[in-house]
Amino acid sequence: MSARFPVARPRRLRGTPALRRMVAGTRIDPADLILPVFVKEGIAEPQPVVSMPGVFQHTSDSLRKAAHEAAEAGLGGLILFGIPAVKDARGSAADDPDGVLQKALREVSAEVGDALVVMADTCLDEFTDHGHCGILTPSGDVDNDATLERYASVAVAQADAGAQMIAPSGMMDGQVAAIRAALDGAGHAGVPILAYSAKYASAFYGPFRDAAECAPQFGDRATHQQDPAGPLEEALREVRLDLAEGADAVMVKPALAYLDIIAAVRREVDVPVAAYQVSGEYAMVEAAAANGWVDRERTIMESLVAIKRAGADLILTYWATEVARTL
Ligand code: PBG
Repeated sequence: MSARFPVARPRRLRGTPALRRMVAGTRIDPADLILPVFVKEGIAEPQPVVSMPGVFQHTSDSLRKAAHEAAEAGLGGLILFGIPAVKDARGSAADDPDGVLQKALREVSAEVGDALVVMADTCLDEFTDHGHCGILTPSGDVDNDATLERYASVAVAQADAGAQMIAPSGMMDGQVAAIRAALDGAGHAGVPILAYSAKYASAFYGPFRDAAECAPQFGDRATHQQDPAGPLEEALREVRLDLAEGADAVMVKPALAYLDIIAAVRREVDVPVAAYQVSGEYAMVEAAAANGWVDRERTIMESLVAIKRAGADLILTYWATEVARTL
């Protein structure tokens, strides 16, 4: 055999679009996608989020419209974040039955709850005046166990308002067990928990803090969220603990910088694995595309395919509706 003529020619399967499509190992279905949405109390018009072009803080009207578009596009779900008009140290609006998020959950689940899964992000940072994810100790750290009581109450208020899935994102120890017990005790044994299990203290959340108006007024989230340089085993331990506490599905967050974690979690568990393509991932692509530096649509699809290929069954992405329409 002459060395000049290869026996193996991988190019044969790349020759036409039809061949490439047929052998593609990774496909994205609209039902894999979950759209995060923000609803703000007390605004008359939707407010654009400057650091996330194309993303808005919704009024209840514009939220309903976005929810219908998501349902029409065939998305798997929506996850709602609320921004209250008034914040305090304990995040009282978070479990107020008439709070902004509960109102939105009632409206959205009544309108599109049969077509897709209406989820609630369960945390306190959008609701506290200090911007931290829980109750503070006198020294300004987040008090784990006092916060668990708040999360339990918030989750019940959300389920009472129609949330079909509860997604605790605060990274308190024991949060899944506390929420599971509270939901079960309140007649919501059938409401599943999607746990933000391996959530890193990431710079990629920057734009979200504008969108949800939840930047910590001092300090950071490094005492509860995982260190980006932490070992893989730490992520797997968080996942195992959440499953033991009753999580029905687990999440890795952010996505693109943590594909190794997604892949390892996928191998570890027998429940659905979600990955959150976060605000900074969105903003980087939009900013580069706006400058003409990358092809926007191709970059978006390539990033989603990578997250899926790594092992995510579900992807939370701000591009969900747009992408689903093109599939
Ligand atoms: C906490 C929460 C955050 C995000 C989702 N849930 C912020 C944080 O942990 O600081 C970030 C999402 C994103 O960046 O898109 N409620």
